[in-house]
Amino acid sequence: MAVVKANAYGHGETEVARTAIECGCEYLGVAFIEEGIRLRQAGITSPILVFGAHLPEYINAALEHDLEITITSFGQIEVLSQQLQGKRSILKTHLKVDTGMHRVGFLGEHTRAALEKILEIPQFKLLGVYSHFATSDEEDQSYALKQYHRFQEIISHIKPRLQHEVIFHMANSGAIMNLPQSYLDMVRPGIMLYGYPPSPNFRSSWKLKEALSLHSRLSLVKFVKKNEPISYGRRFHTKNDTFIGIIPAGYADGINRLNTNLAQVCIGHEIFPLVGTVCMDMVMVDLGPDSKHKEGEDVIIYGSRISVTQVAERLQTIPYEITCSVSARVPRIHYSYHSEEKE
Ligand SMILES: Cc1ncc(COP(=O)(O)O)c(C=O)c1O
Repeated sequence: MAVVKANAYGHGETEVARTAIECGCEYLGVAFIEEGIRLRQAGITSPILVFGAHLPEYINAALEHDLEITITSFGQIEVLSQQLQGKRSILKTHLKVDTGMHRVGFLGEHTRAALEKILEIPQFKLLGVYSHFATSDEEDQSYALKQYHRFQEIISHIKPRLQHEVIFHMANSGAIMNLPQSYLDMVRPGIMLYGYPPSPNFRSSWKLKEALSLHSRLSLVKFVKKNEPISYGRRFHTKNDTFIGIIPAGYADGINRLNTNLAQVCIGHEIFPLVGTVCMDMVMVDLGPDSKHKEGEDVIIYGSRISVTQVAERLQTIPYEITCSVSARVPRIHYSYHSEEKE
């Protein structure tokens, strides 16, 4: 399953979904019904599982667009069965088991009862049973292993009760890379699909290649004298007479304001510091006193020598947040892996 929720972690849901399917992927995972509907409207026909805990008003849309939904509570089973009573529709479902994340899902001791209820309702078709790791990205795998063993125990408990094939699935990127015994019938990679580790200090032997780069251009280059303040709040003062470049991209495009006086950008293979407060639509770069850089030149904000993983580390966050933050205002340009192979 390719996890393509949140606009494929910022990368463009339709293009990523299509590429994943082209590469042989059989399932797609999204967080919300609306995300699944958009994929269907783009002509994607693969099975789509929606992870979230769903409100009853979304069920007709799930049926209409052939989306598989997650069953996470007895209350939900009750409401859905009432909603579906007397209908011919079949709702495709996956039962979610909480093995230690304590977010959505049935606790181990309630799983068998939940399964019985689901099997009693003729309008429910159970396709899968799944769980989710809380710590598979950590070096210490003991809690992840504990969750995996709990899930194994639940599987062996419920399997004899099932008279048809269901898929059992659990592994996210951290587990795919460091806990291969957890693969079961299907794996659900998200962040690693896009070429990033789940956290900056994650260690594994997998070689990933970051898929995204964020580009802009110098829209203005101006001379500023020594000791002059730059941008809102005067949080930076020029150390020398210097050239300041203006980059027309700001926090409204996904450049977090915490990058103020912290981030770097790449222009013509050289690295330069961003200076002054990140604005909504602009950031400023100190090009130095002898700069020959010109308006119109390409600026790499992430990518090339400035990896998303490094940016995440600098901001004390995870690569997920960096790529998901690239806003809708930023046009996405997609290059297929085939064209890269040819280069
Ligand atoms: C249920 C579920 N499975 C799989 C994933 C993919 O996780 P990752 O991006 O860490 O591979 C997510 C993402 O949060 C998820 O919610």
